[in-house]
Amino acid sequence: NNYQMWGGRFNGQPNVALMELNNSLPFDARLYADDLDASKAYAEALKRAGHLNDAECDKLVKSLELIRYDWIERLVKFLPSDEDVHTVNERMLVDLTGELGQRLHTGRSRNDQVATDMKLWLRKAIRETLGRLRLLINAIAKQAESHLGVLMPGYTHLQRAQPVQFSHWLLSHAFALREDCLRLGELRDRANVLPLGSGALAGNPLGIDRLWLAERLGFAAVTGNSMHAVGDRDFVVDFIYCASVVSLHLSRLAEDLILYSTKEFDFIRLDDAFTSGSSLMPQKKNPDSLELIRGISGLITSNLTGIMMTIKGTPSTYNKDLQFDKQYCFQAYDKLAQSLDVTVGVVQTMKVQREQLEAALSPDMLATDWAYYLVRKGVPFRQAHHHIGRVVALAEQRGVDITEVPLGELQQICAAFGADIASVADYGNNVQQYDVIGGTSTGSIAEQLRLLKKLDKEL
Ligand code: ARG
Repeated sequence: NNYQMWGGRFNGQPNVALMELNNSLPFDARLYADDLDASKAYAEALKRAGHLNDAECDKLVKSLELIRYDWIERLVKFLPSDEDVHTVNERMLVDLTGELGQRLHTGRSRNDQVATDMKLWLRKAIRETLGRLRLLINAIAKQAESHLGVLMPGYTHLQRAQPVQFSHWLLSHAFALREDCLRLGELRDRANVLPLGSGALAGNPLGIDRLWLAERLGFAAVTGNSMHAVGDRDFVVDFIYCASVVSLHLSRLAEDLILYSTKEFDFIRLDDAFTSGSSLMPQKKNPDSLELIRGISGLITSNLTGIMMTIKGTPSTYNKDLQFDKQYCFQAYDKLAQSLDVTVGVVQTMKVQREQLEAALSPDMLATDWAYYLVRKGVPFRQAHHHIGRVVALAEQRGVDITEVPLGELQQICAAFGADIASVADYGNNVQQYDVIGGTSTGSIAEQLRLLKKLDKEL
């Protein structure tokens, strides 16, 4: 039975190639449950508006549940005439209920229907993504917590900068992901506005109670302009943007880990499960997992360009171009989920090489603290910076460390140097001075861990 919902004014069948291009089922079938949920609520709204009696509404709701069962049991068969998930669900409903099923679409359009379905789906997608982000943040926090006190060189421009704690560096990535969680939380709240009841574009003339529908479907509000509501995909753009930023953060973490797992650094060792060998060189252990995470961020962010190019230039309200929103949205979601799952595994299983991390520290990285030493003796910072610069140059010229320059020579450069400069040479002491909020002292890092643990309550 070729159930077609709009055949009245047409003679003959649509072009076969067009039908194929138009068929969005390979992508939007995953909206089936959201489509059924929205339809159940809409049937109830029709009853409340007097367009269905109790028994009719009941029959529709129960039949929609039977259809859900068919989807779950993979019993749904697509027909060549099926266009999208909405037409499939309606065709099956009419199969079950006959003429009654044909009443469900009263006052509704696929335009407000698909926007509603997407928002219902997105709500779950955001929840799932937040769950994965939290798993990763927890995995990072756990490694950071169990390696408190381990020191390492901190880098800027990938040049040796200042000693920091390993946990401080690792948590810097968790803090980027924390921002992502907050961003997704904001999106979840802002997108939770119901389009249903907007019709094709003009609204609904049949007494549908949109505020009731919103409450019934768990939306915080209803859209304020029906022509805007049916053409708006900003919430999809926002989600893909959020996903893209997460993927950039994962890519940067991956890059750090790739670098730190080289023989040259050897700061961390990756578990065999997240590496692979070479078909030619028997000794190789390659960080494929992290390269894939770095690479897939390109794929994820390409969806952002895709959706924006799709929306650009469409006239107001709904246009079929918008059907492509799903491919971008679902790809961004799926690839990010994969990427997060692998990152969690890498972080949980990586081995932290304490000895190598601390052996990589060198006295030149104390130069800043030497300048602060002079500042504490009353020397203006600019002058202190200059004096230490001269010490560094002198040491470099002699091929020694700054800690090896005799006190007498230091005092020739700046009279404020005293014997207590030796205490500044202790890296462990050094990092503890940075006890400001956000700093690298153990107390500051403990506070950072507390902040991350509070995240669950903030979302
Ligand atoms: N499947 C379409 C989409 O996802 C919704 C259908 C609206 N189509 C229409 N011709 N009014 O965008």
